[in-house]
Amino acid sequence: MMRKGSSSALRVAAPSASRFTRVPLRSFSSTQPTSSDLDTAAFGEQHIAKGIGRLTKHVFEEGKGTFITTDKGVKLLDLTSGIGVVNLGHCHPKVSAAAAAQCNKITHAQVNIGFSAAQIALLKELIPILPHKSLDSVFLWNSGAEAVEAAVKLARNATKKPNIIVMQGSYHGRTNATASMTRSKTIYGEGHGPLMGGVFATAFPYYSQFGSATKDTPKEDLVNEALLQLKLTLQQQTSPADTAAIILEPVLGEGGYVPAPPEFLQGLRKICDENNILLIVDEVQSGMGRTGQMFFIEESGVRPDILIFAKGIANGFPLSGIASSKELMDLQKPGSMGGTYAGNAVACAAAKAVIEVFREEKILDNVAARSKQLFSFLQDLKSSGTKAGNLIEDIRGKGLMVGLQFAHPELQRGSSNTASKEAKVQPQIAPKVVQECVNRDMLLLSTSVFDVLRFIPPLTISEEELDQACKIFKESLEAVAKDL
Ligand SMILES: Cc1ncc(COP(=O)(O)O)c(C=O)c1O
Repeated sequence: MMRKGSSSALRVAAPSASRFTRVPLRSFSSTQPTSSDLDTAAFGEQHIAKGIGRLTKHVFEEGKGTFITTDKGVKLLDLTSGIGVVNLGHCHPKVSAAAAAQCNKITHAQVNIGFSAAQIALLKELIPILPHKSLDSVFLWNSGAEAVEAAVKLARNATKKPNIIVMQGSYHGRTNATASMTRSKTIYGEGHGPLMGGVFATAFPYYSQFGSATKDTPKEDLVNEALLQLKLTLQQQTSPADTAAIILEPVLGEGGYVPAPPEFLQGLRKICDENNILLIVDEVQSGMGRTGQMFFIEESGVRPDILIFAKGIANGFPLSGIASSKELMDLQKPGSMGGTYAGNAVACAAAKAVIEVFREEKILDNVAARSKQLFSFLQDLKSSGTKAGNLIEDIRGKGLMVGLQFAHPELQRGSSNTASKEAKVQPQIAPKVVQECVNRDMLLLSTSVFDVLRFIPPLTISEEELDQACKIFKESLEAVAKDL
């Protein structure tokens, strides 16, 4: 027991006057000063974990379609979709109505106690749109990271092997296991070790990951190099006998917005088959129509052993999951999977409505049209010969998951290739452009350790809204270019 006056490194400092005044509920008086009197954003700074970094200090109060309105009445054009989540726009009326109706039916239909009608109704719609007919057994959870953990658990359990191979540049989440699998930036794991063991990283076919490559390096060379690195990983770091699974984002997200060429995905499938290794495809960000198909992997024809989905599935309600063959999934003992909120009924009702909206409103047709519009605007800007246009090195992606990488400003002045390589590990332009966009009431995100911007508007964005976004982006880039 701690004696009066004794010191302890664990002792917590007495609350300062500026901290929230704790008021016993029974004697609550509205005249007592609390930090609720602070401006809303200031309250957030004071009482919300600092570990959550954020792009702006805006306080989001309402969302409708492609726009968010703040507590100060500022209307923001949202090109982030809340990091690829509100694919049908904020508060899609049909999705909100389905969730509201479910709230009045049953909100918590606990899955370790009985079957959830809302979950079963969702799966009847979801299973037919999954990218391979072998994916006929599903486990639903809440967040993307949880679903990644579920996939790892299943792979280890099913193969009785411990190790997982991830891609350099991958992002799979911030929990203990997923932070160890995330290789896009060290910040997610830094100072938090020891993280989950048994994780090995291999190269992804992205030119910035290879010293000698440029954006013009043929895709075939990048694919061959990455597949060679994987074979070496299996010979030098983790043998096939110890390797349960290879996991990848088919469009590298936080690592730079780079779609994997189909040949790479097919090469991975072959190596997995030859070595009795499972292939886990993480479509948390690239799934649910984002790339113009319901799932990006469809295009390659590759069968995932385990598919991971989240984000867009319920358009803002927390829902994630894995899909696999019944044969594989049933290797897990009853009770080994689950969770209090796993596959929450309200989120499931919202997700069912999401799938219906995709069909009814022909969302994929809009993705195709808006994607064409965005790519053509960006390509025109790149080839415009202007100072702003010349900053653009690469435009890539699929559907409305579009990445734009900048060249190093020094390179614009004709200096050596070294400058370009340095730029690749020190974003110079993207963060400034993001800030200029915010100054013009538009939300846009950068990504990766490279100098990359990502465009992920709601898939429902209209032609006029996208025109407006392109105009703001151009002005923002010009403002940055002027000062370089
Ligand atoms: C590809 C991918 N996997 C997993 C995750 C983690 O999802 P969550 O943030 O819901 O835990 C993310 C989140 O951005 C992601 O993009």
